[in-house]
Amino acid sequence: MKVSDAITQRSSIRAFLDTPVSDELLKDLLEKSARAASGGNLQPWRIFVLNGESMERFIRALNSYNGEEYQEYDIYPPNLKSPYRDSRFKIGEDMYALLGIEREDKQGRYAHLARNFKFFDAPAAFFCFVDKCMGPPQWSDLGMFLQTFMLLAQEAGLSTCAQEAWANRAGPVRAFIQPPEELMLFCGMAIGHKDPTKPVNDLKSDRAPLSDWATFL
Ligand SMILES: Cc1cc2nc3c(=O)[nH]c(=O)nc-3n(C[C@H](O)[C@H](O)[C@H](O)COP(=O)(O)O)c2cc1C
Repeated sequence: MKVSDAITQRSSIRAFLDTPVSDELLKDLLEKSARAASGGNLQPWRIFVLNGESMERFIRALNSYNGEEYQEYDIYPPNLKSPYRDSRFKIGEDMYALLGIEREDKQGRYAHLARNFKFFDAPAAFFCFVDKCMGPPQWSDLGMFLQTFMLLAQEAGLSTCAQEAWANRAGPVRAFIQPPEELMLFCGMAIGHKDPTKPVNDLKSDRAPLSDWATFL
């Protein structure tokens, strides 16, 4: 597969089949993803994989968790301004339209959001952590790693959804994974085979035109 095909064919998938994914394939994709560039070659990503049995254990632990709940970080800036706010609103409305969930149906919207916390039924996933001492430059390195992973997964016939929603459930994630104290959670990554019968997977997100964000001097 050409890189440009992987880029155009990738989209965030929010309904997965239960078809298993092998640990060997995940290892291969992760090792290749670590070829991503990072400033100073710091390679700041720290990855914890859930697959098959460990996924089942994690979901059970999550559902029976009654410890502290906290937010690892603020996902968006407070009072998100235009045009960023508009993009966020639009993708949400487009997604709920495909799902047939009206704006007034708060319970329906909440139920869909809660599907994040089942990895949208994906059989495999990982959590991406980073050392708390790292700053914005190293966080951008995580993005390079994650995008590389998503494209390689696409090439391997898998689908993905990056999930920062997990930052809102850092308590149970940390309790299950027990990562070293110096690590903080960035996001999850749902991995598996897409369910082609689910309309939510037809969501095609917009992109702003080049002239909105690139300046040729
Ligand atoms: C770091 C990151 C975190 C994300 N977190 C979530 C999430 O928690 N839940 C979700 O449904 N989508 C999440 N997304 C998917 C975005 O909504 C999606 O990438 C965006 O709308 C563009 O759509 P596309 O990925 O289909 O091109 C995340 C994407 C990224 C890159």
